[in-house]
Amino acid sequence: MPGDKSISHRALMFGALAVGRTRISGLLMGEDVKATAAAMGALGAVITFGADDVTVDGVGVGGLLAPEAALDMGNSGTSTRLLLGLLSSHPLTATFIGDASLSRRPMGRVITPLEEIGARFEASEGGRLPLTMTGSHTPVPIDYRLPVASAQVKSAVLLAGLNTPGRTRVRETAPTRDHSERMLRRFGAELSVKTDGAETLIDLIGEVDLKPQELDIPGDISSAAFPIIAALLVPGSEITIEGVGLNSTRTGLLDALRLMGADVAVSERDTGPSEEPQGDIRVRAGRLKGADIPAALAPRMIDEYPILMVAAALADGVTVMRGLEELRVKESDRLALMAKGLTACGAECELLSDGIAITGSGGAPLSGGAQIDADLDHRIAMSFAVLGLAASRPVVVDDASPIATSFPGFTELFETMGASSDHGQHENHSAEPA
Ligand code: S3P
Repeated sequence: MPGDKSISHRALMFGALAVGRTRISGLLMGEDVKATAAAMGALGAVITFGADDVTVDGVGVGGLLAPEAALDMGNSGTSTRLLLGLLSSHPLTATFIGDASLSRRPMGRVITPLEEIGARFEASEGGRLPLTMTGSHTPVPIDYRLPVASAQVKSAVLLAGLNTPGRTRVRETAPTRDHSERMLRRFGAELSVKTDGAETLIDLIGEVDLKPQELDIPGDISSAAFPIIAALLVPGSEITIEGVGLNSTRTGLLDALRLMGADVAVSERDTGPSEEPQGDIRVRAGRLKGADIPAALAPRMIDEYPILMVAAALADGVTVMRGLEELRVKESDRLALMAKGLTACGAECELLSDGIAITGSGGAPLSGGAQIDADLDHRIAMSFAVLGLAASRPVVVDDASPIATSFPGFTELFETMGASSDHGQHENHSAEPA
């Protein structure tokens, strides 16, 4: 699997803030991570892409420079929200721009706490990009309870806290991915995490030097989700995915698949407490049964719902997924696009106020034969490509280029597993079988 996208962004950002040279192997070479790398370069870090690894020569906490031009974040919400946090406690002005998908995503969720810290924003209507931020000369530490389960918002506040005197605190009631916390500790930040059942409190002491690290990034479980579901759905398949990240804040999909009766086995290596857990996942094809997917799983598998919906469309019986409001503000409105695309491919589904109910085909191939509007969303494009493997007629994705944001080599990997795809033959939007 390509390297984990969330961890890759953080490795570049924290490397840029350390004093000295950080070496990273396994970095995701996807477009989103390249946007972060370009931005860190524009802010003064030196990033060198070698044959086997990437080095980052950091400038130290507080040492970032004002960028000369607007920072182009492409399609990447994580780059944008984390960098807004990071820069909010630096005395500089920066303009953020992005593609059509990113420009409709809400930034108010980070603007609110970062204004409390002292940053000022001039955003487009609805708190959207393009926006210009002026960081604070005298940032103040805040104690912030997350109003929405979001690792991006949590990380933005913690990153702001790095160059802020005193204690910055973030409280969350639903555990979201904790890659920032783990990696900040590894870089030598003074960060503690306490859970009292109802709430987790993360406490960071600012203005501490970060020490450069040697990092090895595991494969991305959110990318692995696509071959995992493909192998479950295509009769006779058996695959093993090696070296994939198994951080428990990211493995909700495996729990959901077990509820659906999937044959998925995980072997975890002992990686030590400050490392990211990783291991191998072995998957065998087999009939899935419909299940109620608990809303509590949502923060641990938020990016995996589109592909889980494809699995549900071929299961026996009804699968109900709830607590999915956040899907509406991802790279696209994933709830709406999945419901539309699944229906166009012959699946039976019903949108609920906060989720979706899907009646599976009982393993019978879906009709397929549809043209899917992926709306600049890599995970929608990949989900329907996988659905095509379990459909009688090919599925056409209007624009597969966003797949390169998170999963370069997706098509080639599926071809080596026996899938057949037809690139670029359908610019005329024909949905004829190929
Ligand atoms: C991410 C957090 C999640 C996730 C995104 C990556 C991160 O977003 O959907 O793909 O790296 O922190 P939210 O924080 O909006 O839930």
